Amino acid sequence: PGLSRDELKQLVRTVPDFPSSGIQFRDITTLLAHGEGLSASVDMLAGMAADLGATKVAGIEARGFIFGTALALRLGVGFVPIRKAGKLPVECIGEDYALEYGEARVELDPSIIGSDDKVLVVDDLLATGGTALAAVRLLRRAGAEVSHALFVIDLPELGGAGALAEEGITTHALID
Ligand code: PRP
Ligand code: HPA
Repeated sequence: PGLSRDELKQLVRTVPDFPSSGIQFRDITTLLAHGEGLSASVDMLAGMAADLGATKVAGIEARGFIFGTALALRLGVGFVPIRKAGKLPVECIGEDYALEYGEARVELDPSIIGSDDKVLVVDDLLATGGTALAAVRLLRRAGAEVSHALFVIDLPELGGAGALAEEGITTHALID
């Protein structure tokens, strides 16, 4: 048997005052470097996704690529990168979203999505939900059905799951 959720939680490092004073940054580097922790995380994501009928997994750059690719391999479906602005070499669609300070933009090549695709959104961490919502909007604009988002960590006090629910997205997370 793999690790428990509590054991996984203990593998996440908390870094005070990063990236700015007063923020307790939840850092997955320590979880990624732990063989059993990494494998248990992906097992649990695969368990949550098992009955969702996904045809593709979309991961959000950068840390969503790690778990998203691993999950896609487990499910036997393709991986779709949601990229930060300016990285894709083809014509793409973009969504701007608010960060704590300022704005950011994510982009998608819509030609890799078909109208019969059911896509799961995956990222390492859910905070306000701004990033995940931008990813959902991009995928829907490209024609995908999107109704579930999976995260390793949810920071519930930041309200991301509620923001996603307002857009018809069910949130699944391994740890709070
Ligand atoms: C972090 C995290 C999520 C997002 C969550 O990524 O990996 O993508 O923030 O925040 P939100 O729910 O408030 O939108 P970050 O923007 O730091 O990018 P990185 O993965 O490239 O470091
Ligand atoms: N850790 C990692 N990424 C984040 C966090 C955090 O605590 N908050 C917002 N994005």
